[in-house]
Amino acid sequence: MAISFAPQELFSLLFHGTKAVDVLQAALELGILRRLDEGPVTVAQLSQDLELIPERLVKFMDCLEGLGLVRQEPEETLEDTRYVSIEPLHDAATIIVGSQSVERERDHFNWESLQGRLPEVLQGKHQVPIRSFDWPPRNPQQIKMFEATMAQGLDPIEAGLIKARDRLWPPPPEGQAVRILDIGGGDGSLAQRLVTKESHLWVDIYNLPETRFLVESKVEKHSDHLEFVAGDFLKEELPSGYDVLLLVRVLMDWPDPIAKELLKKAMDAVVPGGWVVICEPFRKPAPLARQLFWNYFLMGVDGCSSRLRDTQNYHRMLSQTGFQKIEVLAGEPPFDLIIARRP
Ligand SMILES: C[S@@+](CC[C@H](N)C(=O)[O-])C[C@H]1O[C@@H](n2cnc3c(N)ncnc32)[C@H](O)[C@@H]1O
Repeated sequence: MAISFAPQELFSLLFHGTKAVDVLQAALELGILRRLDEGPVTVAQLSQDLELIPERLVKFMDCLEGLGLVRQEPEETLEDTRYVSIEPLHDAATIIVGSQSVERERDHFNWESLQGRLPEVLQGKHQVPIRSFDWPPRNPQQIKMFEATMAQGLDPIEAGLIKARDRLWPPPPEGQAVRILDIGGGDGSLAQRLVTKESHLWVDIYNLPETRFLVESKVEKHSDHLEFVAGDFLKEELPSGYDVLLLVRVLMDWPDPIAKELLKKAMDAVVPGGWVVICEPFRKPAPLARQLFWNYFLMGVDGCSSRLRDTQNYHRMLSQTGFQKIEVLAGEPPFDLIIARRP
């Protein structure tokens, strides 16, 4: 179990966050995290294998211990002192500070426009300039940047959906397809991943007309199983006749009345016996921690209400809309799924 910090210790770590990330990145690059995940390793062993200076390495290890990431097993000499991960570190660090880091991608958004000005933001006197971000993104540059960040975080979402495949899209009789509508389907990357893995799926990617250029450039290669459908779910009904509707990281961006309205439209768009799938991070401490960037940045973007909901909230909305067989399925952190069936 990871350590939880008292406020002063946490604030000190946060204050020195850049140094902590530097340590983490070096530990990842040098292969230290992998070694710590494999089991207790002595300072002597680590420094010999990785060609590091033991007297410096112990200070480095103390940084990791101070972050609550490793446990020390003391011995008579420093060289014989052993360290081990408290929880697996290598894969988690790869996601957060590795070369494909989603966090780094997020950092390109103009959050600096808010830095030091939160009191004014909260008082309604300052916001993120519309030219750097609007919701939903409207100009090609904003669309490209936003959807690229979304697409980079798709691994756990795809894994969670594939886990639920037997419930949602069991293979149909020979020659038939399962028709899916991916509502607010980003740049089409998720749809493309799904049809590449599952040959009986046909996915329509429903998104704002402004995203057509991006989606069509992305999904050209698989065009027989993928199609872009332009529309605005705030202004019109959804296209209908689908076996499965995907709402991936969509409802969380809208306030309750709009989310409810969208679920009503979903009820008409899915065939009787078909499924609606809500996949997003639900309100629990771990997903909330990972949401810090967006909670910070979107304080300055009034058009996007962006809030994690708890599963009971969705359960209520779905049953009020008339959906049945509502179930929460564990996905891949931080994303879980709620599935519900049209009677
Ligand atoms: C947070 S992104 C999620 C994208 C994708 N589902 C994913 O998880 O990677 C929300 C998506 O909803 C789309 N969107 C926003 N407002 C919309 C609207 N009124 N009608 C249709 N799509 C909309 C955005 O363009 C964007 O692709």
